Amino acid sequence: MNKSIFTEEHKKLIESITSEEMPEFRNVYNTNKFISNPSMNKKGQHIFRSLYSELCMDNKRKQLGLDKHPNYEEFMKNGYLAIENILSEEEFNNISQRVKNIIKSRGSNKDNDGRIYYSTNITIKNSRISGILAMCSGSKSVPSSYRINHIVHDNRFDEQHNLHIDTCFPSFKAWIYIDDVTEDEGPFHFVKGSTVKTKERLEYDYQCSLISENRSHPEYFDINSGNPGSFRVHRNSEEGKLEKLKKMGLEKEIPMTFPKNTLVVANVNGFHKRGVCKKDHSRLSLEISVRGNPF
Ligand SMILES: [Fe+2]
Repeated sequence: MNKSIFTEEHKKLIESITSEEMPEFRNVYNTNKFISNPSMNKKGQHIFRSLYSELCMDNKRKQLGLDKHPNYEEFMKNGYLAIENILSEEEFNNISQRVKNIIKSRGSNKDNDGRIYYSTNITIKNSRISGILAMCSGSKSVPSSYRINHIVHDNRFDEQHNLHIDTCFPSFKAWIYIDDVTEDEGPFHFVKGSTVKTKERLEYDYQCSLISENRSHPEYFDINSGNPGSFRVHRNSEEGKLEKLKKMGLEKEIPMTFPKNTLVVANVNGFHKRGVCKKDHSRLSLEISVRGNPF
């Protein structure tokens, strides 16, 4: 089992780095996915942001007592939660009907990237869900307006199918499944434990930050599809991906296949991807995204 590298000494070290004596670090506390600065990244700026943002967020959880939540340990260890029967049958049926009515009124127009967009959101005020989202995101004020996430079959390859992180700091996505999700519906996939900052995970982040300073580096497009920040593990190479995961002591991504009325929450600083939705299938869920400034 991988262990986080955080110790009391690390925490003291981070506090000293953020003190007045090192003002150059004061410019890095923002939500930019990647801050280009070759000499600072060589010194570890990128992995510093990753570590410090996580520490800040966990401090917020502890200050608010959110670390006492029954799912806290599991979430910190695995990087995700999947909770079946999250809503009462009555509440779920009511929400499911509202979602399906919106879809029906929109017709069957399909957008081009394998996803159908709807302008109407669904508000869910449920204390169990907001308690979980608060614990995950380190904030008691969590959004309650959900976007309809309707994934459909599309022939073309999408960058979302490559295993990646969204940001260098903790940020969260949550879904409530409106229909059952099997492998056929192109489920969200997640690498269990990939949010734990082991030496090996930090080494991966560090190397990504160095490679990303140079667009002509032979590995630049193995980890980046455009501007750097949402690093891919290894674009379009299953073998390369598995090798890198193994180096980090991680297993292959697992599909989040669960029945309807399941809540899935993931820290998308961990490795994840969208599965491929098969022909004549679609995936229907409600989605919420929480990406604040963790510093
Ligand atoms: Fe993502």
